[in-house]
Amino acid sequence: MFITFEGPEGSGKPTQARLLAEWLREQGHDVVLTREPGGTAIGDQIRVVLHDSGNTEMAPRTEILLYSASRAQHATEKIRPALAAGKIVISDRYADSTFAYQGYGRGVELSMLRTITCIATDGLQPDLTIYIDITPEEGLRRRKVGGGEWNRLDAEPLHFHQRVRSGYLELACLEPHRWACIDGAGPVEEVQAAVRSVVKARLCT
Ligand code: TMP
Repeated sequence: MFITFEGPEGSGKPTQARLLAEWLREQGHDVVLTREPGGTAIGDQIRVVLHDSGNTEMAPRTEILLYSASRAQHATEKIRPALAAGKIVISDRYADSTFAYQGYGRGVELSMLRTITCIATDGLQPDLTIYIDITPEEGLRRRKVGGGEWNRLDAEPLHFHQRVRSGYLELACLEPHRWACIDGAGPVEEVQAAVRSVVKARLCT
């Protein structure tokens, strides 16, 4: 089973993904926890270029192709082999991030992004996408006080992050069978309980 986490900045995805992985391992599942951009040695090198705040001149198409290149390596080297071995793969971000950030955020045509994504992933799609919702105001506030990595996209203006969030909500409406939307405003344990109940229901079907 291939599970992805999506959400705006500061939604708490990495923590939720880690807690889910721990819980599934306790249930006896073999779990691979990974992330994008990155997830492989080559992908991690691409991540450095993508997130370098000094790379202000990066063209939108370069950005798309770099995220997609990281994803191509990730799908080939890590995700597909793990799924073939019967493991559960949990990825903190995947192709829907490209649709939300480069599509809705930057205004690049979704049809072009879908074509590039299909080439990068050879059509590999998640079975379940867990979207952790948070307002951009609250998410960016959390990022600032959290003191974690402040990347090139975090530095985009508020209206960019607002477009990303509404894009996510639209994507979720387009494929309701794949997406589960969870309110990320509450305490970590409350959000995790909602995540586990969604995954439990999927594993039983
Ligand atoms: P994160 O690891 O903190 O979630 O940061 C990843 C950043 O990269 C975040 O700002 C979203 C952005 N991103 C894209 O713009 N497009 C993509 O395809 C992916 C995977 C991430």
